[in-house]
Amino acid sequence: MKKYNLANLPTRIEKMKFNFNGINVYIKRDDQTGFELSGNKVRKLEYSFAEAKALGADTVITCGGIQSNHCRATAIAAVKLGFEVHLVLKENEVPGSGNYFLNKMIGAKIHLISLEDYKNRHQIMADMKKDLDASGKHTYLIPEGASNGIGNLGYEHAFSEIENQENELGIEFDYIVSAFGSGSTYTGLLMGIKKHGRDIKNVGYNIYNPNVDGFDMVKSLLNESKPYTMLPEITPKDVDIRTDYVGRGYALSRDEEIDFILDMARNEGILLDSVYTGKAMYGLMTDIKNGKYKDNANILFIHTGGVFGNFSKMDLFIK
Ligand SMILES: Cc1ncc(COP(=O)(O)O)c(C=O)c1O
Repeated sequence: MKKYNLANLPTRIEKMKFNFNGINVYIKRDDQTGFELSGNKVRKLEYSFAEAKALGADTVITCGGIQSNHCRATAIAAVKLGFEVHLVLKENEVPGSGNYFLNKMIGAKIHLISLEDYKNRHQIMADMKKDLDASGKHTYLIPEGASNGIGNLGYEHAFSEIENQENELGIEFDYIVSAFGSGSTYTGLLMGIKKHGRDIKNVGYNIYNPNVDGFDMVKSLLNESKPYTMLPEITPKDVDIRTDYVGRGYALSRDEEIDFILDMARNEGILLDSVYTGKAMYGLMTDIKNGKYKDNANILFIHTGGVFGNFSKMDLFIK
């Protein structure tokens, strides 16, 4: 599959100071895939935009929360590659700073919709596409989080990068850990792990909806990749998506999560966000202390970015 090269790759792998029961935690700095294009989304968008171009599109539509990192990354990629971009944003908080501000700065066409209407986003985007195409545009739809068959390829490819880095570093990872939202970061990693015949546990921390069946969701996302690549066989044993750290719900924080993020900033010099990486890393560290990872393991945490979102919540952090 063709892709654009938008991200600064390979991203660095750093070892954390944290050590517990001989467990080493490494961080893959996918928050540094770029500045405007920071985070995990750009790896997926390299493929989505290549497909859009191949299909003759000149306009893209996507959707997400008001502080969606994915929408900001899509908007920037669109500008760089010469596409018109429409963002359908869920008004789950007051628009203002953070990613919303960046979207305004770069001139994305923003369509704010209510929480209720957001449930109907697929239809809303399909109607928008119809209208845009009728006006002479050629529109390509990118789903929430760029999580679909083509989006999975981003992290399948990232796994090859990780294997090369294992060779350079002279270590093997026992676990790869990431935040689980719309699912294709996790699914892509699983595709890579299985295709390379590796026995690495892939752990996802659900930060979005604790009620989804992780295996079903991953299986159906994986099947969407059929037109693009050979699919590996997966069984429920391959999927470990933990739902204990969603906390108060999507994009809502608990005091202990914010304290943890501040602690990580002050003791490790790592900036996490409150919606995704903060919750996932909090889950990881708590589970390590509760014996849910084997002693002496090498764990790779994927830092998927998201720090711009913190700028819309500064009051949570300034204590
Ligand atoms: C910073 C960040 N981390 C993790 C995720 C989750 O990735 P995925 O949607 O591929 O599960 C997202 C997007 O939803 C994100 O913006």
